[in-house]
Amino acid sequence: MLLVRETWLVYTYSNKQVSEYDNISQLNDNTSSSNVYFDILTLPIIDKYFKDNTVLSTIFKNYLHQGASGIVLHDGENWMSYGMISMPGCKQPPQLPYSVKKLNCCWIFYCHTNNKYRGRGLYKKLLKHIDEYIHDMFGEHCPDIFIDTQVDNIPARRAILSSGFRPVGIFYVLYLWIPKIIKYPFYGIWRNEQAHNIIE
Ligand SMILES: CC(C)(COP(=O)(O)OP(=O)(O)OC[C@H]1O[C@@H](n2cnc3c(N)ncnc32)[C@H](O)[C@@H]1OP(=O)(O)O)[C@@H](O)C(=O)NCCC(=O)NCCS
Repeated sequence: MLLVRETWLVYTYSNKQVSEYDNISQLNDNTSSSNVYFDILTLPIIDKYFKDNTVLSTIFKNYLHQGASGIVLHDGENWMSYGMISMPGCKQPPQLPYSVKKLNCCWIFYCHTNNKYRGRGLYKKLLKHIDEYIHDMFGEHCPDIFIDTQVDNIPARRAILSSGFRPVGIFYVLYLWIPKIIKYPFYGIWRNEQAHNIIE
């Protein structure tokens, strides 16, 4: 068994841009195809868009079973982008320690854009739909919304910032890791005032 540490940059949703990131473009709908639709991940939607991918459809169904929600962008036939949202009081994202559950927040995790459709603004569009979905669900009692990514994931960092999220520190997580079997986040510390390095 190995002990590994990972670093996660954390962001929270905010309508305001942070000045040091002003050089990053604002959210705009630059998807090159107008045939982009979204759906909430339900069992029939999972079966429709992920029927050929048993690994993914099993993962999605497990997350739904644990109380999470999900959104998928698609063109009517193929999935283009997806993301999950953990709900307050429910099991939190697998990369974070159990203590995060106490925050009673929504945490966006397990996002992905299909290789074929990358660089078209779909992740930003997905984050916009996720934000609207959460606000529609909770109204004026909307909990805090968080998302995290790794330092070297520049496309994700850029998209998150230009979608109206602002940095809220860094989460350091220790994992017990048995390669190919389990990676368990047993301890984490969130330094919520710690600045992110600037994206070059
Ligand atoms: C990260 C990921 C979701 C981005 O999806 P996408 O639909 O291509 O993203 P978008 O087109 O909406 O936006 C990407 C942003 O990164 C920029 N970008 C794209 N490719 C880039 C690259 N190679 N280097 C730097 N920036 C890049 C885009 O210009 C855009 O930034 P902008 O808003 O400043 O213009 C996708 O690369 C992916 O699925 N990666 C693997 C899984 C993953 O990392 N998930 C995210 C976890 S938080």
